[in-house]
Amino acid sequence: EVPQLDQRYKKSFNIGAAVEPYQLEGTTDTAVLKRHFNSIVAENAMKPMYIQPSEGEFNFEQADKIMKFAKENNMDVRYHTLIWHSQVPNWFFLDKEGKQMANETDPAKREANKELLLKRVENHVATIVQRYSDVVTSWDVVNEVIDDGPGANGTGLRDSNWYKIAGTDYIKIAFETAKKYAGPDAKLYINDYNTEVSPKRDHLYNLVKDLLDQGVPIDGVGHQAHIQIGWPSLQEIEDSINMFASLGLDNQITELDVSLYGWPPKPAFQTYDLIPRERILDQATRYDDLFKLYEKLDDKISSVTFWGIADNHTWLNDRAEQYNDGIGVDAPFVFDTDYNVKPSYWEIIDHK
Ligand code: G3I
Repeated sequence: EVPQLDQRYKKSFNIGAAVEPYQLEGTTDTAVLKRHFNSIVAENAMKPMYIQPSEGEFNFEQADKIMKFAKENNMDVRYHTLIWHSQVPNWFFLDKEGKQMANETDPAKREANKELLLKRVENHVATIVQRYSDVVTSWDVVNEVIDDGPGANGTGLRDSNWYKIAGTDYIKIAFETAKKYAGPDAKLYINDYNTEVSPKRDHLYNLVKDLLDQGVPIDGVGHQAHIQIGWPSLQEIEDSINMFASLGLDNQITELDVSLYGWPPKPAFQTYDLIPRERILDQATRYDDLFKLYEKLDDKISSVTFWGIADNHTWLNDRAEQYNDGIGVDAPFVFDTDYNVKPSYWEIIDHK
């Protein structure tokens, strides 16, 4: 058997994987998870729409399965995600009469709406964090609150329903509530993608600095790292980690995958057999460079999580299909579609 990935990086950081509950039911995924990973995160099961589909009705069944698996196998859990603008049920944003609160113009009503939304945030976060405080070591408290462009009135903030109704107070309340109920050693993260590139990186930095100045209990930044073989540059990745570390924050790599393509992912290879060997070797070099960098920065990075386990299950396949008339595959991980190790795996084990 090949060396265990998590053991290889034990001195530096956790090695995690995103999972769907069905992958924990005695499948090959289960075996690979147990052997190579010491941390897990739900790919979907803990997002607001699954956990609290209607107000006050929590559905913990799927999330519980993941927590149970983690406990039984001594794994850390990252909770993804308490608050997000996507995969969130609409009831959060409706007033008591069923009207969209974001559209309200009357100032008194807006004030009342804001209060209602913040109460809902508090209740959502408190209920979940209390339930899982004994298992979860890292919480994605808010996800993707920064826009890719100028954002709301040039602030860089995503103009989501959360923001339209409550400004940045929803972020504050979410962190404060999570802090109140989380375990003493658990850490609270603000998670986002493209954290390496400006202006997004700088908007995120400014927001975090501002929140820290206000005493908001943020422990770290989650860098999703949905990256490509040639983008972003290693320098950009390093600068971003250092920048957030300079605020006294931890960094976690939370959703790593290395796409075979640029943006958009077009043209994509139609089947796995059509992926040229050179592309897989370029990907291996990229993984090598990346993990060398992570290792160099390991006092600033506490965990590296892949957004999946093996190439047979990745959201990037949906992406490839979407941009190529329904036919296309991607292969972003270090295990292939049959769970065999790829050249990328050997590079990050050996740095040969
Ligand atoms: O649950 C339904 C199922 O009932 C239905 O039959 C099926 C038909 O398409 O859809 C299922 O929902 C899908 C869901 O994943 C669960 O499988 C959605 O269509 C699909 O859009 C959704 O995609 C997820 C995506 O987030 C949603 O935005 C991906 O699996 C997940 O990998 C992806 O993860 C995000 C992170 O949370 C945040 N960062 C970016 C990352 C990649 O987009």
